Amino acid sequence: MPNPALTINGQPMGFAMAPETPLLWALRDGANLTGTKYGCGVGDCGACMVLIDGAAQPSCQITLAEAEGRVVTTIEGLGAEGPGGSHPMQRAMLAEQAVQCGFCTPGIIIAAAGLLARDADPTDAEIGAALTNLCRCGTYPRLIRAVRRAGTEMRRTAAPVESMIR
Ligand code: FES
Ligand code: FES
Repeated sequence: MPNPALTINGQPMGFAMAPETPLLWALRDGANLTGTKYGCGVGDCGACMVLIDGAAQPSCQITLAEAEGRVVTTIEGLGAEGPGGSHPMQRAMLAEQAVQCGFCTPGIIIAAAGLLARDADPTDAEIGAALTNLCRCGTYPRLIRAVRRAGTEMRRTAAPVESMIR
């Protein structure tokens, strides 16, 4: 298997790409996982967020070499093994009609999933600190409602995090 190798959405994957390639481009161009979006390329917008070992990080700011051996979850893998094949945050975004153009949506769902995995009952301040993503459509009030809704579902069902992140 070509190096560097990492686990993406539960599957071991190797890339015949330069080690300094940003993970974002390995995902999009190497693995055809285009749900992870390119926005700013400098770590500011959050469009490229993925979970790395369970924590949300901008994939434009980590190289393939740095990601070697890590466990990466993209929007395509989030919740794939959960009830209904989706994560509570994905369902909450629909229920709260928090998706407008949708460009920021994968990154926001990933950032929220990372937060909710640590704490399914975050305060507004904690939600604000975790969701630094930019949304040019201005869906912020709905996003906060969606995080609260997803947290409520997760507390009610107490679904194990491992069943939602692979
Ligand atoms: S594209 Fe990575 S943070 Fe904007
Ligand atoms: S929904 Fe359009 S950028 Fe957020």
